[in-house]
Amino acid sequence: MTNVDILREPLRNRGTAFTPEERGRHGVTGLLPPRVETIDEQVARVLANLRAKPSALEKYLYLSTVQSENETLFFRTVIDNLEETVPIAYTPTVGEACLQWSRIYLRPRGLYVSARERGCIDAVLANWPRDDVAIIVVTDGGRILGLGDLGANGMGIPIGKLALYVACAGIDPARCLPVMLDAGTGNAAVRDDPFYLGLRTPRLAGDEYDALVDEFVVAAQARFPGVLIQFEDFANVNAFRLLARHRERIRCFNDDIQGTGAMALAGLCAALRITGARLADQRLLFFGAGEANVGIGTLVAAALEREGLSAAEARGRCWFFDSQGLVTRDRSALAEHKRPFARDHPPVTALLDAVEAVRPTALVGASGQPGAFTAPVLAAMARLNARPIVFALSNPTAKAECTADEAYRATGGRAIFASGSPFPPVALDGRTYFTGQANNSFVFPGLGLGVLATGATRVVDEMYFAAADALAAQVDAQDLACGRIFPPATRMREVALAVATAAAGAAYDKGVATVPRPADLAAHIRQSMYAARY
Ligand code: NAI
Repeated sequence: MTNVDILREPLRNRGTAFTPEERGRHGVTGLLPPRVETIDEQVARVLANLRAKPSALEKYLYLSTVQSENETLFFRTVIDNLEETVPIAYTPTVGEACLQWSRIYLRPRGLYVSARERGCIDAVLANWPRDDVAIIVVTDGGRILGLGDLGANGMGIPIGKLALYVACAGIDPARCLPVMLDAGTGNAAVRDDPFYLGLRTPRLAGDEYDALVDEFVVAAQARFPGVLIQFEDFANVNAFRLLARHRERIRCFNDDIQGTGAMALAGLCAALRITGARLADQRLLFFGAGEANVGIGTLVAAALEREGLSAAEARGRCWFFDSQGLVTRDRSALAEHKRPFARDHPPVTALLDAVEAVRPTALVGASGQPGAFTAPVLAAMARLNARPIVFALSNPTAKAECTADEAYRATGGRAIFASGSPFPPVALDGRTYFTGQANNSFVFPGLGLGVLATGATRVVDEMYFAAADALAAQVDAQDLACGRIFPPATRMREVALAVATAAAGAAYDKGVATVPRPADLAAHIRQSMYAARY
């Protein structure tokens, strides 16, 4: 390292916070302005600049620059201002950043592993400068939020998710690795963009695709033994198969399927504290039958079985509606992941008719179809239920099945509403309604922390049940009183600790932990959390 390298190494750079003694020791006296600042003073400058930026994307770019200069300062800013910064570093703004990725690209972050390196992916992983990687978030860009196949432009997602791992769960940033597994893209518009930075080839499929993912997984395990791999934003044609293939062999999970399931189950349980009804009495209509909703349905059905229902009864409480209409058994070529929930029922092709036929207590949207929850659909939910539960989970904001305003207005303020991306409070008839953010960011950071704390060899379903219970318990009476069934973003760090402790406890109970159980699990996990201090 030369003297200036310390200023270029974001994990070690402190910028104007280097003391005169440190400046002397590193040989950088004079390379920085003379004033020595505290981290709080630096954060104040970052916030002032951030707030002066004219658009969300400009804010995203500015925060990315701060992260590239000084990670401690970036994470201190995010941790101290979660409510303001998470919607920039993550959904909804990260969606806009991904759409523009090849145009706004300035400097590398993370690892790009492409199909061009087939046969020598281990050599690509060897190029990563650190050996102690604990968590990899990998995407192939196949289904980025509700925006479809964005190919290598999806890199913003693993970067954003890992920022939340650090900010919320205190994972050491030096141990996080975002990976773009570039298998080509099926999106011709992306491929033909003159600025596009990924492989300009059609997306691999079938055995060739599986071989690429397999090679990556094997190489990652060899390079970083025991690394936790989070599969993120893979298209559902691959996601279910990859999860089934790898979950019994390595430490991995698919957040869109499993994390979303735990998050939504927690929200449902919190909603039932408002309605006073039992989980066993719920009937859910899922709009969209992809990773998110099938993940939720699977976990809800398992939770119903825990309450004493048979497997068939439990699944019978979950109805699915996709782009072809109600998911029924007589439909030809039904995708494998939908089959367990297919029903014997005449075809229904309009959502309003499905609501009338199923009479659901909860309507859960994860379809990427904005406006799908029309006023008549919401009004029908309000006619059928004193307090209809409505989740519009699709991200980013522009893809939500309905807005918070639409949900409250069409139901006379009776909806118990939550959305994947945040909506501002809604004023209606002299009342203000606060919506909870139904986002798996309340689950995956804590779950990952729990896995690392216990050295769990596998991520088992019981860890998700425990995570859901812990998340639901974080919703207090004050939250419920204003209609919020998820904690506010300001509490994401406490939530992550609670989720981690619960998931860790489940890992010990199920015998998948490899680290001896500490006397005080929560205290042990808390003290391991990175705090973004110099
Ligand atoms: P997916 O691609 O696996 O599933 C989408 C589903 O929507 C498919 O079943 C498709 O048939 C259905 N669909 C499409 N058009 C439709 C239409 N016109 N009518 C009815 N159904 C239609 O995608 P995935 O992973 O399930 O994600 C869906 C959305 O949920 C995305 O916007 C994603 O960002 C969001 N999501 C939100 C999460 C959260 O934490 N809030 C977590 C995971 C996903």
